[in-house]
Amino acid sequence: MDALKKRILQDGKCFEGGILKVDSFINHQMDPMLMHQIAQEFVNRFKGVKINKIVTIEASGIAPAIMVGFIMQLPVVFVKKKQPKTMENMLTTTVHSFTKDRDYTVCISNNFLTAEDHVLFIDDFLANGNASLGMIDLIKQAGATLSGMGFVIEKAFQNGGKILREKGVHVESLAIIEDLSNCEIKIR
Ligand code: G4P
Ligand code: NA
Ligand code: NA
Repeated sequence: MDALKKRILQDGKCFEGGILKVDSFINHQMDPMLMHQIAQEFVNRFKGVKINKIVTIEASGIAPAIMVGFIMQLPVVFVKKKQPKTMENMLTTTVHSFTKDRDYTVCISNNFLTAEDHVLFIDDFLANGNASLGMIDLIKQAGATLSGMGFVIEKAFQNGGKILREKGVHVESLAIIEDLSNCEIKIR
């Protein structure tokens, strides 16, 4: 995805500890035209795959996910990081965040993730894959089927991509960052 790669090289910033900051077009300010192109690329890459629902995790996954849902004309559900008292039929799982060095519990209602669902999971970043593993657990608890996982940016120097592909998950990442050392962005 050339437009995305160009934008990362142009506007992305490197931070200590292998963090790529994309605050000016994905994580804080958002570029809906680029997001639309990103979503269209996901739609192309998952063409022919049985999908009836898009699932993501709040907050930064919601923007790309809803664009994909709009193009595919499918509902979009986001996993919540706070457990609302009013949620019916709550499914929960624990996710470990390396960047924040803590565990947190995420939840989704079984009303919106069911055994009939064929899920395309969309997120902004694939790093260690902990959020994705949490998602796989929620899908399992719901008896749903995982059709694929799409990431806007994958950091190849962290383990998430390897873990998911070894599990046989259909993973599509639109920009793969090989390295961020010496504050130089190297994209595959
Ligand atoms: P993992 O799910 O792949 O294991 O990720 P990890 O625990 O390492 O990261 C936790 C959070 O940090 C996630 O967002 C993830 O998207 C984000 N993240 C990971 N690496 C980078 C990076 O290089 N740059 C940026 N900008 N973000 C990164 P989150 O905190 O759960 O939530 P939100 O931002 O979606 O609200
Ligand atoms: Na995220
Ligand atoms: Na994020």
